[in-house]
Amino acid sequence: MIDVEILEQEALEAIQSADTLNAIEAVRIDIMGKNGKLTAAMKNLANLSVEEKKAEGQKLNTFRDRFNTQLQVKKNQLEAIELEAQLKKEFIDVTLPVSAQAAGRIHPLTKVIEEATDIFAQMGFSVAEGPDIETDHYNFSILNILENHPARQMHDTFYLKQRGADDVPLLLRTHTSPVQVRTMLSQELPIRIIAPGKTYRCDSDQTHTPMFHQIEGLYVDRAENVHMGHLKSCIETFCRAFFEMSELPIRFRPSFFPFTEPSAEVDIGCSRSKEGVHIGGGSDWLEILGCGMVHPNVLRNCGIDPEEYQGFAFGMGIERLAMLKYNIPDLRTFFEGHLQWIKHYGFLPFSVNCNANEDA
Ligand code: PHE
Repeated sequence: MIDVEILEQEALEAIQSADTLNAIEAVRIDIMGKNGKLTAAMKNLANLSVEEKKAEGQKLNTFRDRFNTQLQVKKNQLEAIELEAQLKKEFIDVTLPVSAQAAGRIHPLTKVIEEATDIFAQMGFSVAEGPDIETDHYNFSILNILENHPARQMHDTFYLKQRGADDVPLLLRTHTSPVQVRTMLSQELPIRIIAPGKTYRCDSDQTHTPMFHQIEGLYVDRAENVHMGHLKSCIETFCRAFFEMSELPIRFRPSFFPFTEPSAEVDIGCSRSKEGVHIGGGSDWLEILGCGMVHPNVLRNCGIDPEEYQGFAFGMGIERLAMLKYNIPDLRTFFEGHLQWIKHYGFLPFSVNCNANEDA
């Protein structure tokens, strides 16, 4: 039989002198492990007489409880010390200035989305979102693009495989306009949102990529508060702020979209030369967005009474805006992920309106 008092004394001393979590675990194993001293003593109880078993068993139980308590206390202390040391070692001063050599760059598309969001935020618009995978209903039908409408073909839609015959037809959204509908169905009036995001069309050449980005805008209010004049001034304010040209020539050209009536396309003044397109003066025009007054059918489809409410909407391509503002000649390079390209056309995190290469 072992002497429980001596065992306890040794064990408590071992706990006291353990100064790492590994050491404390070694003490636990030495006493309580499969081949530990207490485990062995417990096993040995079987060889004792009933009387001895009772007395010895009690002692061992008391020892076990004290041992566990002391072990836990010490373990907690050591854990706190180790955590403290780790926190000290991993301390990062988040107030230090970012190095000018920082490797990361903001992609021009992100930059344009941030700039546009800022400008529209100042006009009271907030950001709304919708899913990239849409139903045929939200992408087309509810937007007044009917079953056999040529616009469905024009959009070169990516359809998803249907799992069962009864499943709703799913597709990759061909424009951000379904976010208009989702917002009208879910938000209180009046509405003032923009929705930047990815869009998809099965088209790939020098001026088209199968995935690209748009910013949608939607404004709905009581009919007496919103008319085409508001649409015009909203677009003009945006374009002049975005291109940083207070005299930028802008024209509205009648057009057609099934979900707006009347509809217009907006051109900005430019000149073209061998070096590319130059925004501002000149005698040429360049189309940059589509817009119009929300079609009464669309309002009605969203449960809004077109006799009482009216709205305007617009949609523009983000890549086009980025190419024009930052002189990026080739659309496809946006998505190739070349380090040299992003170093040249990207932006340093905290720079305001200047290319990374201009900062260097
Ligand atoms: N959804 C249209 C497109 O992708 C753009 C648009 C949006 C036009 C809103 C009018 C109003 O071409």
